[in-house]
Amino acid sequence: MQVSVNGRRREVAYPDEMLVWVLRDELGLTGTHYGCGIGACGSCTVLLDGQVARACLTPARAAAGREVTTVEGLARGEQLHPVQRAFLENPLQCGWCLPGHLMSAAALLERTPNPTDAQIEEAAGINLCRCGGYNAIRRAVARAAELKREDG
Ligand code: FES
Ligand code: FES
Repeated sequence: MQVSVNGRRREVAYPDEMLVWVLRDELGLTGTHYGCGIGACGSCTVLLDGQVARACLTPARAAAGREVTTVEGLARGEQLHPVQRAFLENPLQCGWCLPGHLMSAAALLERTPNPTDAQIEEAAGINLCRCGGYNAIRRAVARAAELKREDG
């Protein structure tokens, strides 16, 4: 089966595996993290046609004919995505949750360029941070919105 990942057609040998394992083990995209495996923590969050999806609960087969975006696909060449720059300005602790927050924030800002505090809270809250870095996460998402608007 072929899947489009970060704009490239990739051959997948195990389409019945969960997407998180296909990305990490078959395609070498280890930026997508694995935490709980039950859809609760969000560390495996990727985008499927721009919508957030838990890769630990999504069979790779479900990505056929759709565009998968992982954290490796956020930057444009040397230019980091606004959410990446914003989290560099607002660093977290261990960073295990970071890929999920980056993907959730990127999806939020794509559909909501001027998010309210409540929308930021909601987007930040769908992924868990075991280090309790929610203040930094909220600041980073708000900053990312500013940076994205500046980028135009
Ligand atoms: S590993 Fe997928 S939600 Fe936790
Ligand atoms: S920074 Fe450690 S889990 Fe979020």
